[in-house]
Amino acid sequence: MSRPELVKDVVSTIAEYVPGKSIEDIAEKYRIDPSEIIKLGSNENVLGPSPMAIEAMVSTASKMNIYPSADASELVDAISVYTGLPAENICASGPGMDGLLDNLMRLLIDPGDEVIIPTPTFSYYEIASRANGASVVHVAPTKNLDFDTKAIKKAISEKTKVIFVCSPNNPTGKLLAEKDVRDLLGSTNGLVFVDEAYVEFADSNLSHLVHEYDNIIIGRTFSKAFGLAGLRIGYGLMPAWLKVQYMKIATPFNVSLPAVRAGIAALSDKGYLEKSISDTKEGRKFLTENIPFKVYDSRANFVLVDVSPLIAADMAESLIKKGIIVRDCSSFKNAGNSLIRVTVGTRHQNEKVVAAFREAKTTD
Ligand SMILES: Cc1ncc(COP(=O)(O)O)c(C=O)c1O
Repeated sequence: MSRPELVKDVVSTIAEYVPGKSIEDIAEKYRIDPSEIIKLGSNENVLGPSPMAIEAMVSTASKMNIYPSADASELVDAISVYTGLPAENICASGPGMDGLLDNLMRLLIDPGDEVIIPTPTFSYYEIASRANGASVVHVAPTKNLDFDTKAIKKAISEKTKVIFVCSPNNPTGKLLAEKDVRDLLGSTNGLVFVDEAYVEFADSNLSHLVHEYDNIIIGRTFSKAFGLAGLRIGYGLMPAWLKVQYMKIATPFNVSLPAVRAGIAALSDKGYLEKSISDTKEGRKFLTENIPFKVYDSRANFVLVDVSPLIAADMAESLIKKGIIVRDCSSFKNAGNSLIRVTVGTRHQNEKVVAAFREAKTTD
């Protein structure tokens, strides 16, 4: 029996999170050998995890009867070395940066608060905000899918609690300039959440702003450049006053022991990180130059392709039938119906992607 009336009212109006398709889904649906499928729809790291992270994780197996530290302080210390910020400005989070978003929205949102979400962007901001009672104000991008900073500023009101800025943005790959982030920070009485999930693939980051502003939070993750999406580790960089409040309500023990150990090992594996970044930049250039459609300039580990006049859903389906999983962006708000996001793969995978796009273009 189903009892939806027991769930809070807002949930009936929240659209479900749409994840990228899995290898298992596609293997079953199209009867393709799973080992032949290339998964480039979820911006994962195609290098696989760092061997040092694997070893650290496996070595925790015999300690699984013991709780990890409640605040993942050992991991926070390692993140402190990596970011150059003191531990008082860092909260480690699980599951992933999504867990950080959940805890933050639980901490910040009072009924009637508004959050501003420039679109198209990562959809979980809206889910976490609305589930905690916020009203969402969406802001459309410019014609070329850039952030419309003027329009974002115009949307700020007395009720604005959080402005979300994803930089590099998922799915466009675009950065918001530091001066524009500063402009937003100075224009609101609320907080600005800067999502830097993909920042290792860009050539700049905004962590230094945590020293200057008392209303910035930067979200980071181990799921992308560090190749640990399956372990679900994220972290937030924030002013010390906010960390004190955050720690009061954060789910205790939210970073598991294997995740703490693997995270520390991943941070110490400089060779892996360098390779992850340089391979990605090389592959990104290759895809940008060779996919025979408009490809947006990206600072992340994916590229956004505009297949118009073709339809993204049809193109994604035709690639998926060839065993290449990409992301049709039609479910992103204000993304239209002609955008496809492709994760940068290995050289061999990228060549297959380009060939598949070429074939789709000529058979149209
Ligand atoms: C922009 C952005 N932020 C956050 C996340 C979630 O990160 P995590 O895996 O750490 O929960 C993703 C995942 O794809 C993302 O694209």
